[in-house]
Amino acid sequence: MKLLVTGGAGFIGSNFILYWMKKYPQDQIVNLDSLTYAGNLENLKEIEKNPNYSFIHGDICDLDVVERSMVGVDWVVHFAAESHVDRSIKEPSPFVMTNVIGTHFLLDASLKNRVKKFHHISTDEVYGSLNLSDQSKFNERTNYNPRSPYSASKAGSDHLVRAYNKTYGLPITITNCSNNFGPYQFPEKFIPLAITNILENKKVPVYGDGLYVRDWLYVLDHCHAIDLVLNKGKVGETYLVGGMTNDISNLEVIKKILKIMGKDEGFIEHVKDRLGHDRRYAVDWSKIKNELGWRPLHNFDEWLEKTVEWYKANEKWWKDVKTGAYQEYYKEQYGS
Ligand code: NAD
Ligand code: TYD
Repeated sequence: MKLLVTGGAGFIGSNFILYWMKKYPQDQIVNLDSLTYAGNLENLKEIEKNPNYSFIHGDICDLDVVERSMVGVDWVVHFAAESHVDRSIKEPSPFVMTNVIGTHFLLDASLKNRVKKFHHISTDEVYGSLNLSDQSKFNERTNYNPRSPYSASKAGSDHLVRAYNKTYGLPITITNCSNNFGPYQFPEKFIPLAITNILENKKVPVYGDGLYVRDWLYVLDHCHAIDLVLNKGKVGETYLVGGMTNDISNLEVIKKILKIMGKDEGFIEHVKDRLGHDRRYAVDWSKIKNELGWRPLHNFDEWLEKTVEWYKANEKWWKDVKTGAYQEYYKEQYGS
């Protein structure tokens, strides 16, 4: 089996490649990644010399590269995206380009090359925002209602993926998952930003009142879900993937991190809120549980602690990415 993984140098893509090569060592993986600020080949050091792994440095918006990457490919696993909401608020264009146009090029090339499966990785954010006051959750029948340029571009890509199935018969599957956490996550996202700031003795910026709720999913549970959908999922179907947390606010998350790291709450700094900030996400993952037997296995508290340990043990990894362009981004986003 030959897999084309797009965005395999990013957070989830690299965790997926490491997971897959361990579990299915006979498979070949081609990783197509343009190495934006979020792509980091250091994540894949341990498998870079494996003869079953190859890397193509290219953009999914470049049709020639996409066509070349497809040769002999059985399955496409599509992670490549611009993925950070705050950046999409500042500059939406790369989000529309990569997430919508790039996905469109991949779909065209997949059709032309008769790939046997196109799996699209998407987000629960396409469904919009839930109220704090009720217990409702997103499910596969929830109407799309994206509210940020990021989620709107991901919603656009989801619609295109489904349209290629309905119109041209491309064998697709989609997973829409909740917020991932774990090793190799770029420290612009909340959990790694908090951990690395604390390690640098800096305060943690908490947007607005901090009472925003996310559904935290350990990255390896997500990889396992994708594995099951690829191997057992029904063509044309969408599966929602969520974590083990019951509603937990950003403030509660940061307090847990501070406790793990032996710091007091003086590290919390409330800052200006994000524009259009989605109040609450929660995922009903009963479809993937009932149909494919998946459930999250990584408990939030335990794996949050292990994630803190990972960042402590891999200081060089995050210090190397918190330089240059990151510093400029940080200054623009948070002030000094
Ligand atoms: P990431 O930002 O860490 O990595 C994205 C990767 O895609 C990077 O390696 C980057 O270089 C690459 N890339 C970006 N534009 C590209 C282009 N035009 N051509 C080729 N490569 C390009 O993202 P992530 O957190 O690993 O997310 C992966 C996927 O999962 C995305 O589709 C995202 O929307 C989805 N998702 C992420 C989360 C999360 O919590 N991180 C939650 C739900 C869904
Ligand atoms: P983030 O990791 O950016 O993921 P998403 O916006 O895709 O859910 O943010 C998670 C939550 O943390 C979200 O409610 C925004 C909040 N947040 C902060 O309070 N401060 C920060 O510096 C960041 C990056 C996020």
